[in-house]
Amino acid sequence: MIVRYEGRDCYEIVFSDSFSGLADKLDVLGFGHRRICVVTDSQVAPLYLEALGEQLSSLSGEHISHVFEAGEKNKQLSSIEQLYIRLTESRFDRHDLLIALGGGVVGDMTGFAAATYLRGISFIQVPTTVLAQSDSSIGGKTGVDLQGYKNMVGAFYMPRLVWMNASVLRSLDDRQFRAGFAEVIKHGFIKDAGFYRWLADHRTDITERRLPVLSEMLEKSCEIKRSVVEIDPKEQGERMLLNFGHTIGHAIEKAMDFSLLHGECVSLGMCAAAHISAARGLITGSDRDGIIRSLADFGLPVTFDRTDLFERIVAITHSDKKTDGGHVRFVLLRAVGDAFVSADVTDREMLAALEKMAS
Ligand SMILES: NC(=O)c1ccc[n+]([C@@H]2O[C@H](COP(=O)([O-])OP(=O)(O)OC[C@H]3O[C@@H](n4cnc5c(N)ncnc54)[C@H](O)[C@@H]3O)[C@@H](O)[C@H]2O)c1
Ligand SMILES: [Zn+2]
Repeated sequence: MIVRYEGRDCYEIVFSDSFSGLADKLDVLGFGHRRICVVTDSQVAPLYLEALGEQLSSLSGEHISHVFEAGEKNKQLSSIEQLYIRLTESRFDRHDLLIALGGGVVGDMTGFAAATYLRGISFIQVPTTVLAQSDSSIGGKTGVDLQGYKNMVGAFYMPRLVWMNASVLRSLDDRQFRAGFAEVIKHGFIKDAGFYRWLADHRTDITERRLPVLSEMLEKSCEIKRSVVEIDPKEQGERMLLNFGHTIGHAIEKAMDFSLLHGECVSLGMCAAAHISAARGLITGSDRDGIIRSLADFGLPVTFDRTDLFERIVAITHSDKKTDGGHVRFVLLRAVGDAFVSADVTDREMLAALEKMAS
């Protein structure tokens, strides 16, 4: 699958169940003799660094690795500085390559370092979580958090290649695996009712992590994300639809002090959006119930009983960086597969939706 950017073919997404063939691709892209730094985290390194290194051994350049401490709390500028120092000491120049081997945290940080080191060095994505393979590795958003504010500093910077090895998803723990599905199902909700039905039909194979089905699912999910980011790479219109579930989702994430995973919060946010869409008469009650049931079927949370936090959650939605002149931009559904951005969702509607989720 080829992703286009600014009117031209920009990078390829390869769907595979191993790393084999990656070195040949890098050679074709002109990195066969270049220095390569594999950037990964402390949890992924013992699992896949060696296998990836073996692949690279057929290339003749010097190869090093740089390992961050795993976890969102390390997605910050000081970690990036350590990487800059490593690259400088290893004399990396702008023709060399970074490889992001890991989840969204590693991908976002490596991409940001690549965008800024020497004003831009090439990087590729080798995503290893469901979230990273279905969402964060595509579209060129990179960045770090700043004092608890997520993704406050960043850049749009495109990878040269995305290599999806579906087999690495087998080592994810169950909670991480399930949470990633929020973004996958989201793609069906906003753009493609057929994909939503396909997911329901293949749920057992998917949750049992059967490889051909996982690969097929990722390909379908990426196709939807590709089509959205190609139309609107810098989030001025269409790309906002990808924020379905994220207005209340982000607010819950923050109100809960990041004790829930991102995908779990997005699931709750999508339930809230479904409640508001139904309350406005945009979708039927049975559509709303179907949306909520499908999230629950994939093991995602659909109820939230922290009534003590509701007011705070609504207040936080107003400080989200995706507001428009003070109005919260909220993605609603006209139907499953047909989302739109609304700027007039009221605090009262959000509270009513949260209250429905508490029961
Ligand atoms: N750039 C974008 O467009 C975009 C989109 C969505 C989310 N994000 C960002 O992505 C980040 C979340 O990504 P994530 O959910 O992948 O989290 P993550 O990168 O923290 O990975 C989750 C955990 O799983 C471990 N892990 C990764 N791959 C593994 C594997 N194959 N086997 C076993 N363990 C593995 C990691 O070490 C980590 O502990 C957030 O920082 C979010 O802001 C970015
Ligand atoms: Zn998300």
